[in-house]
Amino acid sequence: MPDESGLWQHIERTAAGLFADFGFKEIRIPLMERTELFARSIGEDTDIVEKEMYTLSDRGGGQITLRPEATASVVRAYLQNKLYAAEPLQKVYTIGPMFRRERPQKGRYRQFYQINVEVLGSASALVDAQLIFMLMQLMDRLEVGDVSVHLNSLGCPDCRPAYREALLGYIDGRVDVLCGDCRRRRQNNPLRVLDCKVPDCRKAMDTAPAMGDHLCEACRTHFKTCRAVLEQLDVLFEIDNRLVRGLDYYTRTTFEIQTSALGAQSAVAGGGRYDGLMAALGGPPLPATGFAIGLDRLVEIVAQSVPGAADSHQRLPDLFVAALGPQSQQHACLWIAQLADKGVWAEMDFEDRSLKSQMKRADRLGAAWTLIVGERELAEGALVLRNMLTKQQQPVPLETVVPALLEQLRTDAAGHPDST
Ligand code: HAM
Repeated sequence: MPDESGLWQHIERTAAGLFADFGFKEIRIPLMERTELFARSIGEDTDIVEKEMYTLSDRGGGQITLRPEATASVVRAYLQNKLYAAEPLQKVYTIGPMFRRERPQKGRYRQFYQINVEVLGSASALVDAQLIFMLMQLMDRLEVGDVSVHLNSLGCPDCRPAYREALLGYIDGRVDVLCGDCRRRRQNNPLRVLDCKVPDCRKAMDTAPAMGDHLCEACRTHFKTCRAVLEQLDVLFEIDNRLVRGLDYYTRTTFEIQTSALGAQSAVAGGGRYDGLMAALGGPPLPATGFAIGLDRLVEIVAQSVPGAADSHQRLPDLFVAALGPQSQQHACLWIAQLADKGVWAEMDFEDRSLKSQMKRADRLGAAWTLIVGERELAEGALVLRNMLTKQQQPVPLETVVPALLEQLRTDAAGHPDST
C-alpha cells in the first residue's frame, strides 16, 4: 500500500547498498520457468514441489511454473549464459515476488517477496561465513534486534547416506508416535522429520542422531572453518541439529535467521550451500551458496523494532500551494512543475475549495510551508508564505516566486537540525 511502500523501498535500498559494498551485482530473472527446473532443483519430494507450485500448461505443450524461489532460476541463468566461462565466481542478488500455494496467515502469503543472494562458483567456507555476516549486517543497518542465527551442516553425498540410515533406524523405532506426514516423509525424506512442528514428533526426535556427528572429514573441516570465521567476525550463532530446510539441494552449511517477533513464522531468512545443483542441472560441477530473506517478514519486524519506521520513510511535501480561483490555480500548476524540476515537492488543490479547507489539507499532508495565492495577491504582486509550524507569514514577490521559494526552503533546510 502507498503508506507502506516507503519502508519497503528503504529496506530494498539498504540491502542493495550493503550488497554493493560486498561486490554483489543485481540479476533480474523471469517470473516463470519450465516446471522441470524447479522440480529437479528443489526436489520432487518437497512440500513446495509436491503441493505448492502454481503450474500451468503452456500452449505449445509443456508446463511452466510461477517461481516459488529464485535460486533455481539464478543457476539456470548462470549456466545458460555460461557466466562461469570468463569468471566462475559470480556474486548476484535479486529482489522480487515468489509464489507458493501455502495456507495464508500472518507472515505467510501466496505471493511473497524475497531478497535473494547467491555466490556461484566458490566452495569456500569463508564465503558461507561472509554471507551470514552480511545478512546480520543488514539486520544491524535496519536496526532489527531479536534475531538469531541458526546454523547446521547437512554434509555431502559422501557422508549423508550413512546419516540417513542412522536416522531412519532411529525413526523406525518411534513410528507409532509420529504424525501422518512424518510417517509418509520417513521413506523419501527422513531428514524432514527432524523439523516437524507437531509436539509429539518434536519430542520423539529429541534424542535423534545429529548430522554433526556423522560428517566426513572434509565436511567437518568446512564446518569448523565457517564457525571459526563467524566467531572472528563476532557473529553469534547457535548450532541447530534440526535445521534441515525445506529444499533438497542443500549440502554442508545451512542457516536460518529466526525471530520470535513473528509468531509461528519464525524464519526471516534462510539459505545455505548447494554444491551439487549445477551438475544436477547438467552444468559443470561448480559449487555455490546463498540465502533468501522473506521481505514481507523483514518489513514486519523492522516496523516492530523501530518505532515510527513506516512513517519516517514517507516523504512529506515541502510546500502546499493554496490557490484560490482558476487564474491562481494555473499559476500554481506552473510553479509546481518548476519546483519539481528543482527537486522540491509541492502539492495543490485542484478542486478550488475554500482557503480554510485547503489549509486543512496542507496540514493533513504534513507540508512544512503553504503558499497562499488568490486574486488579490496576484493583483498586488505579492503572495503569502506561511510556515505551518510557527504560523509566521511572510510576503513573496510574484515576479520571482520560484527562486524566492527555493531560497527560503533551502535556508529552512540548512537551519533544520535534522538536515544533511
Ligand atoms: P526458503 O527458506 O524457502 O529458502 O525461503 C526463504 C525465506 O522466504 C523464508 O525464510 C521466509 O522468510 C520467506 N518465505 C518463504 N515462504 C514464504 C511465504 N509463503 N510467505 C512469506 N514469506 C515466505 C529459499 O527460498 C531458498 N531459495 C534460499 C536460498 C538461496 N538458498 C540458497 N540460496
